Amino acid sequence: FEVVDFNKKLKSWYLRNHRPLLWRQITDPYKIWLSEIILQQTRVAQGTPYYEKFLLQYPTVFDLAAADEKDVLRLWQGLGYYSRARNMHFTARQVVNDFEGKFPSTAAVLSKLKGLGTYTAAAIASFAYGEAVPAIDGNVYRVMARIFGIKSDILSNEGKKEFLAIAAKLISHEDPATYNQAMIEFGAMQCVPANPDCPVCPFNDICFAFEFNMQKELPVKAKK
Ligand code: ADE
Repeated sequence: FEVVDFNKKLKSWYLRNHRPLLWRQITDPYKIWLSEIILQQTRVAQGTPYYEKFLLQYPTVFDLAAADEKDVLRLWQGLGYYSRARNMHFTARQVVNDFEGKFPSTAAVLSKLKGLGTYTAAAIASFAYGEAVPAIDGNVYRVMARIFGIKSDILSNEGKKEFLAIAAKLISHEDPATYNQAMIEFGAMQCVPANPDCPVCPFNDICFAFEFNMQKELPVKAKK
């Protein structure tokens, strides 16, 4: 297969099938950050109302930085994983104090902030600033493992490196933001964990897992 053809097919699938989620088509890094932190451990349906009320209460990083931690935690009630809220509050203050309220524009610098891992940093850098860095979450690991037949353990550092190297070759340099959104959405909507509808998939002609009926075996997550 050719990378340009893969990207064309992926983008056309995305344009026809994506959900009109609130944090799509925005470039405010603060809002993108919030959406990605919420979605790390929370489903879209449960997370969306929290995203909305959080932004009503704290429309900018300055508002969040000026808040009391207990008020931020109260707003987070019901979402769980409260370290997410504590880290966001801490990081908002750091962005205000060290970066004049402007989020750093590269994944390399973003990933040094508290609570931002490789994935979140890449998501913000590509969605807000158009940096061509692959944002690889669980959805994307599944899509890549199945289509390309990558059998490395996605929980190991070696495996992560291998996926990153392949993703770096795949990512569109013309439109990295849409590429990343499309890979995430494709995993969330089409290449789902259980019983994916492979006969309608636009990649079933090149998909390793479809050819060898290994959808259940990929991606590989070694038991810890
Ligand atoms: N899950 C994590 N990030 C997401 C995004 N940007 N869109 C949809 N689902 C997601």
